[in-house]
Amino acid sequence: MKRVYVTRGLPEPALKPLRDLFETEVWDRNEPIPRGHLSEVLGDVDGLLCMLTDEIDATLLGRAPRLEVISQMAVGVDNIDVEECHRLGIPVGHTPDVLTETVADTAFALLASIVRRLPEGEKIVRRGEWGPWSPTFLNGRDLHGTTLGIIGMGRIGKAVSRRCAGFNMEVVYTSRSAKPDLDARRLDLSELLGRADHVVICVSLNIETHHLIGVKELEMMKETAYLVNVSRGPVVDTNALVEALKAGAIAGAALDVTDPEPLPAEHPLLGLDSCLVVPHIASSSVRTREAMARLAVDNLVAGLEGREMPARYRQDRREQSD
Ligand code: GLV
Ligand code: GLV
Repeated sequence: MKRVYVTRGLPEPALKPLRDLFETEVWDRNEPIPRGHLSEVLGDVDGLLCMLTDEIDATLLGRAPRLEVISQMAVGVDNIDVEECHRLGIPVGHTPDVLTETVADTAFALLASIVRRLPEGEKIVRRGEWGPWSPTFLNGRDLHGTTLGIIGMGRIGKAVSRRCAGFNMEVVYTSRSAKPDLDARRLDLSELLGRADHVVICVSLNIETHHLIGVKELEMMKETAYLVNVSRGPVVDTNALVEALKAGAIAGAALDVTDPEPLPAEHPLLGLDSCLVVPHIASSSVRTREAMARLAVDNLVAGLEGREMPARYRQDRREQSD
């Protein structure tokens, strides 16, 4: 019987197909599996179901002589050395599509919250500092009627852009390829940053997008613009963002992802009222997380049975996972 390892507890119904078919072991603690322990178990498994918190690099892969298949319960696979997997003939599965709409909902929620300054208002209420109504109190920016810049027009970017229609917003975007089917203009990054009233980052993290948004790019944004990130923390240069927020170079930021992650409570970003941070939960609806678990399991089963995975990650089609 083939052996599989799952690096985080999942609901039993999701695990059942694995338990029925393979000798299945689960790291059942509510924290990432320590690297040393993962390295040990990999010595003896055929299939791995992992999370974005597991760093699957060439060293670790070198200690996994039997490993045939990797299935990650996430759409982004930047924590996995996919080139090394390719070289070793190990297919990598991921979970696109099933999370697209939920992540787009969250991106829109972050955007609406930050432009309307809801987190600041909520903190004031909780601190007991809610004074008399005032005409100028917490004046924020509008969302409706603005131009949204979407960086990365893959599945999630498109789902965000669909939501803009209901808010009478114009969409401009950057993307490796044109999307003629969209009612939106494709621009260079610098044009987009200068033109957009607000910016949402939806690209996947890779060598080209690491620190895509740094000092220079933040300078190009409007002073009244808000930045939202639902992709991966390192797409933004965190120090540059802190400085831009302190200097008022942009109006604020709303982040589902940060660098580092988790963000320590004493981090400078958290001392800024203009910054909203939530703990990497963009896909975290009950239904979507269940669908992600099911797809990750289906990918692993298919791979171990020598069938095509329902959702195999392909580098050459990377743009689709923007
Ligand atoms: C979550 O961040 C994912 O990549 O699915
Ligand atoms: C978006 O990144 C998706 O792949 O669903």
